[in-house]
Amino acid sequence: MSSRLRYPRIPASQITPESVWQSRRQWMQQMAGIAAGTGLTGLGAVLPQTAAAALPAMDGIQPNPQYSAAKIDRKLTTEKDITSYNNFYEFGTGKSDPLDYAGKMRIEPWQVQVSGEVEKPRTFDLDELVKLAPQEERVYRLRCVEAWSMVIPWVGYPLSALLKQVQPTSKAKYVQFVTDTQPEAMPGLNDRIIPWPYREALRMDEAMHPLTLLTFGLYGKRLPNQNGAPLRIIVPWKYGFKSGKSLVRIVLSESRPETSWVAIAPSEYGFYANVNPDVPHPRWSQSHERVIGGGFFDPKVPTLKFNGYAEQVASLYSGMDLRANY
Ligand code: MTE
Repeated sequence: MSSRLRYPRIPASQITPESVWQSRRQWMQQMAGIAAGTGLTGLGAVLPQTAAAALPAMDGIQPNPQYSAAKIDRKLTTEKDITSYNNFYEFGTGKSDPLDYAGKMRIEPWQVQVSGEVEKPRTFDLDELVKLAPQEERVYRLRCVEAWSMVIPWVGYPLSALLKQVQPTSKAKYVQFVTDTQPEAMPGLNDRIIPWPYREALRMDEAMHPLTLLTFGLYGKRLPNQNGAPLRIIVPWKYGFKSGKSLVRIVLSESRPETSWVAIAPSEYGFYANVNPDVPHPRWSQSHERVIGGGFFDPKVPTLKFNGYAEQVASLYSGMDLRANY
C-alpha cells in the first residue's frame, strides 16, 4: 500500500450540522435508486484520493424505514457530539481522549479473522466485508452503563450475514469480538485498567439477531477512528460496553469466552448487560439517563427496558432471571 488510510481528526468545519444532514437525507430519499455517485460530501472530502478510492464512499446508503429516526421519540444526537464524546479506553479514559488521540490508529490495511467453531474459518479483507451485504442506515439508541445516551444513525448490515459465510458448527454457542491493539498508537494500553485486548461476546442467538449490526459508518460516512473504525459491532438493546470497536478477530466457541469488563469487575458488569432500569449498577441507579446534547439543566429521562427494543428481543431471554443475569 502506498498510502495509509488514516482518519484525520475532523475539524469542526467539516462536521455536518444535523439540520444540513437531515435535508441531505430527505434529498437522498427522494433520489432513491439514482443516488449513487452524487458527489456529495463524504469520505472523499476528508481523505486523500488514493485512500478514499480503497473504500466506496457511503453516500447513497438508504435508511431502513423500520429503524428510522421517526420511530424514536428523541432527537438524533448531533454528529459533533457522537464523534467527540466517546468511550475508547485504548486511547484514554477521558471522553475527549478518543477524538484527541485515535487519529494515529492505523486502519488500512485491515483484516478480520473469523475462527473457532465454524466450518469455514476465513480472514476477510475490509473491502470484502464492506461488500458482503447491502448496507443500510439504522437509527439506534446507544445507552452507556454510565447512564447517558445518544441516538445515532449507524450504517451497516446484520452481523448474521457475516456469520452465515463461515458456517457456524452445531457446537457454536458464543461469539467473541476482539479489538485491535496498536501499542504505538494507543496510549491507553499502558494503563492496565482492562486486560487488553478489549474483548466482548454475545450468545449465538443474540449475535444472529437482526438488530445486531456490523457497523461501518455513521451519519452516512465511514466511522471516524474514535467511534471504532473501520468496523465495530452495535448491539442496541445492551449497555454500550458490549459494542466492541475496531475489530480484528471474531471467535465462535462452545463455552462462554472471557470478556474484559466481566473479567475485572463481575459484580458491576454482567455478561448479558441488557439495559434494565430495574437493576441498578452497584454504585448508581440505571433508572434514568442523561441525553447527550441536552442542556445542562435538562432533566434526565426514564430508561427503557432493553433500551426500547423489548418487543424485538425480550423473547431471547424468556425464562431467565434478568436480575441474576444482569
Ligand atoms: N470498544 C473498545 N475496543 N474499547 C472501549 O473502551 N468502550 C465501549 C464500547 N466499545 C469501548 C469499546 C463503551 S463503554 C461504549 S459506551 C461504546 O463503545 C461507546 O461507543 P461510542 O464512543 O462510539 O459512542
